Amino acid sequence: MADYDFDVLIIGSGPGGYVAAIRAAQLGLKTGCVESRDTLGGTCLNVGCIPSKAMLHASDLYDEAVSGRLAKLGVKVETSLDLDTMHGQRKDAVKQLTGGIEFLFRKNKVEWLKGYASFTGKDSVKVGDREVRAKNIVIATGSSVMPLPGVTIDQKVVVDSTGALELPSVPKQMVVIGGGVIGLELGSVWRRLGAKVTVVEFLDQILPGFDGEVRKEANKIMKKQGLEFRLSTKVTGVAVNGDTATLTLEPAAGGEATTLEADAVLVSIGRRPNTEGLGLDKAGLATNQRGQIETDHRFKTAVDGIWAIGDVIPGPMLAHKAEDEGIAVAENIAGLTGIVNHAVIPSVVYTNPEIAGVGLTEEAAKERGEVKVGKFPMAANSRAKTNHEPDGFVKVIADAKSDRVLGVWIIASVGGTMIAQAAQAMEFGATSEDIAYTCHAHPTHSEAIKEAAMAVLGKPIHI
Ligand code: FAD
Ligand code: NAI
Repeated sequence: MADYDFDVLIIGSGPGGYVAAIRAAQLGLKTGCVESRDTLGGTCLNVGCIPSKAMLHASDLYDEAVSGRLAKLGVKVETSLDLDTMHGQRKDAVKQLTGGIEFLFRKNKVEWLKGYASFTGKDSVKVGDREVRAKNIVIATGSSVMPLPGVTIDQKVVVDSTGALELPSVPKQMVVIGGGVIGLELGSVWRRLGAKVTVVEFLDQILPGFDGEVRKEANKIMKKQGLEFRLSTKVTGVAVNGDTATLTLEPAAGGEATTLEADAVLVSIGRRPNTEGLGLDKAGLATNQRGQIETDHRFKTAVDGIWAIGDVIPGPMLAHKAEDEGIAVAENIAGLTGIVNHAVIPSVVYTNPEIAGVGLTEEAAKERGEVKVGKFPMAANSRAKTNHEPDGFVKVIADAKSDRVLGVWIIASVGGTMIAQAAQAMEFGATSEDIAYTCHAHPTHSEAIKEAAMAVLGKPIHI
């Protein structure tokens, strides 16, 4: 290995970085991973996927009790909210999972270099006082909250997603700026726990990037649950006075300003790649206009020996995308062929019902050619009906000529689990007929996928 300290040095231990590190070590490469946080696991394990799902799960159970959903099933309980315990179980989940990555690093002999990394050359990185050389360097530095110009996040009244996970008490009125994934998930958490939640969205519809019909239906369902939406509206200012904030709103197209009072404001208008302070110039690298590091399909950057994966490169900012890229990049570095099919990456919003999709939206599919669409309502699915979960539908979009499945969209209580089947079918190049003629267990929510595929062929049974 000449005078290299590592075969592979990974910067960042999020789902991209830690998975790349473990796979590289499994492949026999001497591997190090630099992480500046006190714990491994990146955004996802520390302040993202995991703690948000802990709060979503617990708040949903609380909502089941207080909204009378449990009573309808004959389960009568007296309910009170113990927010400290709820936060405690969130912290436990994070601790267990981040500790688990530390265990996996030890098991696989991945060295954790604690500190902030910056390039000193094409194959060298400084971490604190230590300078290390590596034959291959993988940039997996992830992303951070996108700030809203003129709005200061104080993590007390005006919070980002990290602050919104940790609110010490339930706000009376919460305003969420941005009707995307974080806005809906964390807005739902606090709505369920008793806050009045208003979502201000710049566009005329929530959840950009999702199928049009799904966006509309999701809006309707969330409204029914009590979230209030101000669509086509922008926030032009947030003035904090003690424990409250006054927001100034304007129609997105311009017009008369109005104000809104809140005791919690969540800024969730997107995330941006982490490259600041990384010394990319020392490595001969630059970012694109969106601040991302460009790579080829093997995740190699413009500089030999430097690779990049996850939220810091183009594509959806999702943990499972980062993980798959982590495996692929390690395999490519080891001389194998690591591939990620970016056309088949599922997205899930973990509200109740869950909102999930994979592949093309109906709008995008129609731009490419003629399509056939099959839909099946969850209200006609026996299991959803039995469980009193009537909201949502499954929609299968197939090529009109070849019948090949181009996209699947689901709103259902377990949509996030159901979408895996659709992703697998699409990976195997399935047609809607393949799905329609696959035996699905009864009674399951997944039968709605089979029926939607049958609807593509024009012959569903239960509607
Ligand atoms: P990150 O997870 O961001 O990890 C990068 C790591 O690199 C960080 O720990 C950072 O400290 C470290 N780092 C950065 N620069 C340096 C440096 N110079 N030196 C040393 N260390 C450095 N995605 C999903 O798929 N499902 C979900 O349910 C989901 N929920 C989310 C909920 C929230 C509230 C948020 C904010 C995000 C959520 N995401 C979810 C998105 C997901 O967290 C990210 O897509 C994912 O973490 C990206 O992984 P990554 O490895 O690219 O980077
Ligand atoms: P997002 O991109 O999902 O949504 C941001 C929303 O804010 C958009 O609807 C946008 O139109 C709106 N917006 C932008 N500027 C605005 C303004 N000035 N005023 C009002 N609205 C404005 O970003 P979000 O929700 O912050 O999430 C960031 C990333 O984290 C996403 O890319 C997502 O993939 C990831 N994530 C994934 C989760 C999951 O997979 N379940 C959960 C949470 C986050």
